[in-house]
Amino acid sequence: STAVKPIREALRLPAGSQVTVRGWVYRRRDLGDKAFVVVRDSTGIIQAVFTPESPGHALARKVTVESSVIVGGALREDPRAPGGKEIAGRNIEIVGLAENFPIRRDASREFLLEVRHLAVRSRKMTAVLKLRSTVFEALHEWFRSNGFYEVHCPMFISAAVEGGATLFPVKYVDGSTVYLTQSSQFYLEALIYSLEKVYTVAPSFRAEKSRTRRHLTEFWHAEAEVAWTGLEGILKVEEELVSHIVRRVLEKNREELELLGRNLEPLKNVEPPFPRISYDKAIEILQGKGLNVKWGDDLGADEERALTEEFDKPFFLYGFPVGVKAFYHKNDPSRPEVTLSADLLAPEGYGEIIGGGERIEKLEELLDKIKQFGLNPSDYEWYLDLRRYGTVPHAGFGLGMDRLVTWIAGLDHIVDSIPFPRTVTRTYP
Ligand code: 4AD
Ligand code: MG
Repeated sequence: STAVKPIREALRLPAGSQVTVRGWVYRRRDLGDKAFVVVRDSTGIIQAVFTPESPGHALARKVTVESSVIVGGALREDPRAPGGKEIAGRNIEIVGLAENFPIRRDASREFLLEVRHLAVRSRKMTAVLKLRSTVFEALHEWFRSNGFYEVHCPMFISAAVEGGATLFPVKYVDGSTVYLTQSSQFYLEALIYSLEKVYTVAPSFRAEKSRTRRHLTEFWHAEAEVAWTGLEGILKVEEELVSHIVRRVLEKNREELELLGRNLEPLKNVEPPFPRISYDKAIEILQGKGLNVKWGDDLGADEERALTEEFDKPFFLYGFPVGVKAFYHKNDPSRPEVTLSADLLAPEGYGEIIGGGERIEKLEELLDKIKQFGLNPSDYEWYLDLRRYGTVPHAGFGLGMDRLVTWIAGLDHIVDSIPFPRTVTRTYP
C-alpha cells in the first residue's frame, strides 16, 4: 500500500496515482449502488467513490459521519468533485466508528457552544483557528525582529491594574485572597529597566458582567512596554505590528478568508500610518450623529461603532479625559484634563482592539494620581519603587488577540475567535 498523504498533497498528484489518505468522514451518501465518502483532514477534503466491485464497498456503506478512516484507491479527474479530483475507492479502514454525530446543520449557537469539543471540527472553526495561528505567529515574528524580548509574567497577582470591579478572586494556598491578572502591564514596566523593549502574550482575566459580542472573561492579551519613548513612539509600534499581522494573514490564509466569506478590501487597506482622531473631535462627530454623549463620558461599543463609519482602516482615538482612563496614564502636560493615551479601533464596526499610552514616570505625580483615584498607595509599593530607581519615560499597550482575530476573520461574535471561549455564562467544555 502507498504512504499516507495529506489530502492537499494527494489532490496535486496526477490522475492514475495510487493514494492513501486518512482523516474523518465529512459527508456520507449512497447514489444507486455507489457509496460516496468525503474525507476531511487538517489540509482539506477529498471524495472517495466505492462501487460494488471495490473490496471496501460494504464498509464504505456502513461508515458514519465523523468516523476516523484510512482510505486508498486511484486518483482520477472529476470536475464535480471538491478539488477537481476524487479517489476511485479501493480500501477503507475504519479506525474509530463514530456514534450518531449530535451536530446537525440547523444547530443553534447555544447548542454548538455546549458541544464545542465537537463543533471545533467544523470547516468554519478550522479556518478561524488556522488564521488565529498565523496571527500569533506574525505577532511573535514582528516583535522578535524589532528588538523586543519576550517575557513571562505571573497570573496570580495581589492588586488591580485595571480597577477593582472586574477582578477574579482566588483562594490561595496560604488561605489569603489573590486575584487573576487583568493585565501584565506593571510587570512589563519592571522589566524595561533591564531589557528596554519587552512583550508578552498571555491570558488576562476580567469578571465582565456585560454579555457583549466582544467580551470574554478570559482573553489572550499581547502587551508591550518600551523604555525611552512616549505616546508617539508607541503608536508607531502599534500600527507597524497590526499591519504586519494583517499582511501575513493575507499572504497565508487566502483560502480560509474565502471560506469565511471575508471581504478582503478593508484588510488590504491596513498599512501605516493609521489616521488619528482626538477624543474631543470624536465627541463632536458623535453628537453630530445624534448620539447622546458629552465630553467626559467613556465611549462604549455603540459610540465606537458609529466612529468606525468615518474610517476605512484602523484608527487611533487619543486624548481621553483623565476620568475615563486608569490611574497610571500620564496627563498631558499642556492640557492636564486629558491623558497621553490612545485606543486603536478596528474599522467595519469592530471598535477597540488596543488600549495604551504613555506612563507616569515621576514618583510624586504617580502618588498624587493614585490618591486622586481613591486608591491606596501601599497597594502599589513595588510599582512606585520603579519610579524611585532610575525612572525613565516609557509607554506601552495591550492588544486583545481575540478581538483582533474576530475583526480580521470578519466574525460577528468574539466566541468564534477562540476554540473554548470563557464568558459570563460559560466555562464548559
Ligand atoms: O484597554 P485595556 O483594559 O488595557 C489594559 O489592560 C492595559 N493595562 C494594557 C497595557 O497597556 N499593557 O485592555 C487592552 C485590550 C483592549 O483594547 C481589548 O482589545 C482587550 O484588551 N480586552 C478584552 N478582550 C476580550 N474580552 C475582554 N473582556 C477584554 N478586555 C480587554
Ligand atoms: Mg481599553
